[in-house]
Amino acid sequence: MNFKEELERKTGETEEILKGYLPKAEGFQRRVLEAMDYAVSAGGKRLRPLLMRETSALFGEAGEGLFCFMAAIEFIHTYSLIHDDLPALDNDDYRRGRKTTHVVYGEDIAVIAGDGLLNYAYETALRAFDMAVTQEEYQRTAWAMKILGHKAGVYGMVGGQCADLMAEKPETEVTEEQLLFIHKNKTAALIQAAMTIGAVLAGADEKAVEQIERCAENIGVAFQIQDDILDVTGSLEVLGKPTGSDEKNHKLTYVAMHGLEESKKQVETLSEDAVGILGAFPNRNAFLETLVEQLIYREK
Ligand code: IPE
Ligand code: IPE
Ligand code: MG
Ligand code: MG
Ligand code: MG
Repeated sequence: MNFKEELERKTGETEEILKGYLPKAEGFQRRVLEAMDYAVSAGGKRLRPLLMRETSALFGEAGEGLFCFMAAIEFIHTYSLIHDDLPALDNDDYRRGRKTTHVVYGEDIAVIAGDGLLNYAYETALRAFDMAVTQEEYQRTAWAMKILGHKAGVYGMVGGQCADLMAEKPETEVTEEQLLFIHKNKTAALIQAAMTIGAVLAGADEKAVEQIERCAENIGVAFQIQDDILDVTGSLEVLGKPTGSDEKNHKLTYVAMHGLEESKKQVETLSEDAVGILGAFPNRNAFLETLVEQLIYREK
């Protein structure tokens, strides 16, 4: 099987896992459940759950609890997209090739669909405790929960979104340090959560988890630089979301600060560094290494 076929197969498996954990749209809260389903089922690359699973394979057997965390991280990521697109934030009308959740369901329902997904993500991740049998599995699950909460919150993704929004204000002078803070937190933090949780659940020790965290930081920063590049060079048809969003919102991006060429070089350097870290572990995962390399050339 070549890489592309394998990626399709693994993405399909991830879709099935997500479907299994999505709540049914019924009851008096049906509308919010439909909106949650609309946002999640629209697809997307499923990169975070994929990275989680592939990283776990580097270290050993993660157990069934891994699936709960794979769903949870995609729910958190999807909530962040619903809120990111709202008129009060980036004000974008398309996501994952469809009208954004707030365009279809209204801003009120979109806000609570985001809240719903965030909360349901933790309900889903906590189910991993029901699957833990040994003391060690409990401990790994608890460690993974701690990572998830930390990296998704004010010391991770939410913190990065805050810095991103503050940097939009025309009167603010922004520095390279702030730019890096934004990339590391709004985007790399969830990728770090995905990869380190995979490692932790499969029994990686503290030192290995630290290396994975560093590797994921490189992947995450490169991923956001590439996202900023595609916001300039891509198209709505391929990306499934509007281009020119950053310019419209006066965003501080790597491209705005350093130009396209330098940005592309940076994506390459960071990704190669990440692959180098992965290659130094005693076990190798060729699929994971190729996945990270391919992200350099992604067009969506
Ligand atoms: C978009 O993430 C938001 C960023 C952090 C850049 P993805 O590019 O992973 O979006 P989907 O999940 O494939 O839709
Ligand atoms: C958003 O960054 C990162 C999130 C935490 C959602 P962007 O605002 O650049 O993401 P897109 O381009 O809308 O997907
Ligand atoms: Mg944004
Ligand atoms: Mg946006
Ligand atoms: Mg963007």
